Amino acid sequence: MRKAVIPVAGLGTRFLPATKAMPKEMLPVVDKPAIQYVVEEAVRAGISDVLMITGRNKRALEDHFDRVPFIEQALEAKGDHTRLAAVREASSLADIHYVRQGDPKGLGHAVLRAQSHVGNEPFAVLLGDDLIDEQDEVLQEMARVQAETGGSVVALMEVEPSQISSYGCADVVPQADGGFVRIHGLVEKPAVDEAPSNLAVIGRYVLHPRVFDVLAETPAGRGGEIQLTDALQTLATAEGEGSGVFGVIFRGRRFDTGDKLSYLKAVFTIASEREDLGPALNEWLDSVRTPANRV
Ligand code: G1P
Repeated sequence: MRKAVIPVAGLGTRFLPATKAMPKEMLPVVDKPAIQYVVEEAVRAGISDVLMITGRNKRALEDHFDRVPFIEQALEAKGDHTRLAAVREASSLADIHYVRQGDPKGLGHAVLRAQSHVGNEPFAVLLGDDLIDEQDEVLQEMARVQAETGGSVVALMEVEPSQISSYGCADVVPQADGGFVRIHGLVEKPAVDEAPSNLAVIGRYVLHPRVFDVLAETPAGRGGEIQLTDALQTLATAEGEGSGVFGVIFRGRRFDTGDKLSYLKAVFTIASEREDLGPALNEWLDSVRTPANRV
């Protein structure tokens, strides 16, 4: 698995007005934009080529992953090697390409825009809103399951039943050898009483390229959009090369940076575990939690 596709064309309406003139993916999580954590996760899984599916108002993303000679020269002149390395890091992570989605016709349509870049090899899809703990190796595990099964793989997470209508939901059968599950059926954002399980698809996929042919034939589904979930449902019940959909159960920490509360949790969690910020932040958090200090 050499290539990853990161759809970033979404409007970020949940974070307005902060996202009125800035892509939601550029919201800082401590001192890096959220999207950089996602690219770093892909790189840790061995990916060297990233294609972002962008849209209008997303130029800041391209600037972020590009070189900035005048800042680099200024830092070099000052001898500030720490910041210089931090600035350069984003532009040397991977070979990053961009294509615009054009019409906002849904996640499935965004992934289909990657067809000519990806070609005929398995590839990862990472959704920019999902931040996964950097200790976790779920993407590596998914690549292993893809290589073993020859199908497509999604990351699944148990959620409260009341939350399932915000996600794709999987109907699964555990595999005898453990480690992963086979998916019988997938449904995009079902009503609570129609959900086949409480296993939610989170924003990590390792897909067989056959998904492109299926997406090209997939009609608009939920919300009038072409859903990746619907294409995977087709692959789950198909036969022949590239058929079959499997799930790796994710039990680690994950944040949805498109949701305000989850975004704040990501910022506090990551900052509180950093050597430079953690001790002082945790001390302050302890002090404001002390009843005597509550207003
Ligand atoms: C998308 C997918 C959904 C998945 C979710 C994970 O939905 O369509 O199946 O569960 O990402 O974050 P979105 O959150 O973009 O509406």
